Amino acid sequence: MLFLEQMTNKTALVIGATGLVGEETLKQLLKCADYNKVIALPRKPLSIKNAKLENPVVDFDKPEQYNNIKADDVFCAMGTTIGKAGSQAAFKKVDYEIPLSVAGFAVKNGATKFILVSSMGANARSGIFYSRTKGELEQALAKLKYKAVIVVRPSILLGDRKEQRTGEAIGRFAAEKLSFLFAGPLAKYKGTPVDLLAGVMIKMANGDKAGVQIVENDEIFAIAEK
Ligand SMILES: NC(=O)c1ccc[n+]([C@@H]2O[C@H](COP(=O)([O-])OP(=O)(O)OC[C@H]3O[C@@H](n4cnc5c(N)ncnc54)[C@H](OP(=O)(O)O)[C@@H]3O)[C@@H](O)[C@H]2O)c1
Repeated sequence: MLFLEQMTNKTALVIGATGLVGEETLKQLLKCADYNKVIALPRKPLSIKNAKLENPVVDFDKPEQYNNIKADDVFCAMGTTIGKAGSQAAFKKVDYEIPLSVAGFAVKNGATKFILVSSMGANARSGIFYSRTKGELEQALAKLKYKAVIVVRPSILLGDRKEQRTGEAIGRFAAEKLSFLFAGPLAKYKGTPVDLLAGVMIKMANGDKAGVQIVENDEIFAIAEK
């Protein structure tokens, strides 16, 4: 009985909840019986209303607005592009500094699992700034005292993005219309539907495995099928 109560009394925290993956993750968390409270930390008010949802608007330049946040499982789908951010420093703030700051406060306040949407090719030693930043965040999170750090590394995201991104649109076209190309050894590069990705993140957050778990794109599909 106590076990059952613990299972259903969890609080999830989502950062990046207004994005393509974050919004889908938020929707699925609100439907998931394992969580009785879901907190999102958007920088502008959310239109979604739900009895389980708390969504205080925060300014991430003011850590005092979120440093007392309490949750069990933290989901991070925050990110930007270098084009949108305007500089490497501004990109790193969104894709490294803010997630690490939230992760640090959350674990201090009792969070036990951190689930990160990283990216295929993430590598702290990469010569590509984007991939290196993703890898550096993975490494920094692994040093915090979480029971489990779950890192998913999707390929190009497939979903209904309102904003147009040319490079992504070409990749999405290839991923959707030329899916026969992504067979055999290329299967691991196939596009990752965001609903499938969000489902896998939540499934893994509710698993028993401890430690750092890196989930490559092909494993995301395999876990979804199990
Ligand atoms: N796009 C791809 O194909 C792809 C592939 C592999 C991995 N990824 C990674 O997957 C993650 C999720 O991607 P996505 O496409 O779902 O992202 P997205 O749609 O661009 O959403 C990004 C989220 O981050 C928030 N954000 C951006 N800049 C912020 C800032 N300065 N301060 C506070 N919040 C900020 C956005 O909030 P606002 O709504 O307020 O802007 C939004 O909630 C990212 O880390 C991305 O790098 C993407």
